[in-house]
Amino acid sequence: MNREQFFSELWADFVHIAPQAAALRSRFEALGETVLNDHVAFRTFDRGPLRLAALEPLLLELGYHAFDEYQFPDKHLRARAYRCEHAPRVFLSELSLDELSREAQEWVERCASQVDASRAGTAAVFHAGRLWSPLTFAQYQSLSDESEYAGWLCAHGMHANHFTVSVNALRQLVSLPAVLDFVENAGYAINTAGGRVKGSPDVLLEQGSTLAPNVAVQFADGRHEIPGCYYEFALRYPQADGTLYDGFVPASASRIFESTNRREA
Ligand code: NI
Repeated sequence: MNREQFFSELWADFVHIAPQAAALRSRFEALGETVLNDHVAFRTFDRGPLRLAALEPLLLELGYHAFDEYQFPDKHLRARAYRCEHAPRVFLSELSLDELSREAQEWVERCASQVDASRAGTAAVFHAGRLWSPLTFAQYQSLSDESEYAGWLCAHGMHANHFTVSVNALRQLVSLPAVLDFVENAGYAINTAGGRVKGSPDVLLEQGSTLAPNVAVQFADGRHEIPGCYYEFALRYPQADGTLYDGFVPASASRIFESTNRREA
């Protein structure tokens, strides 16, 4: 599989869950903007064929190499960042299951143990969806209370959790506040956890995102609406050597993760 085909299939799967991203992309393009992706992000758990160490070779086959890693102890996550010339960066995070309660571990392990290794042999696994039988809605709610990340992953399975528009590539909406105002005026809610704009020129990266709208998901005991996927916006600043900062900022990423938090209807 080549990278272009991978990203084309990944985007098609993503906008099925996040049609607001396709609508926003069209609105940017209607302004005459060129929409390039800064990065895409994936979630997984540290068990079985979907663990980060097992997925990483699939990214290397696509031409990526790892360039940094991050820890999110309060969310029981770690992540690695990958880059490749002429393609979006990839941010792959992984849930440290051992840090969850015994009950949560049992539910997630039940999901992970059903993954057929043959499904995880190509990069298509990154948009393969739920490769296990669903939890009950009560299990999902309880799991999400403990780890929103774990609840989202068990309910949705493998998808791009978000795509991210490169604000550096925009010509008219050149600041994060301008982009977020444009998105909000188009009718889409903004994640305000930690402020609308996360990061600053001082840390060489500013980020913001939409809140993931609810989508209907099948559980063992019926369909329920839960947060789906979201669209992020990132502006990178030049480093001392003049090149744009390439990495991620854990304090900002931690609040971006909260774009899929459940909200009162
Ligand atoms: Ni992101």
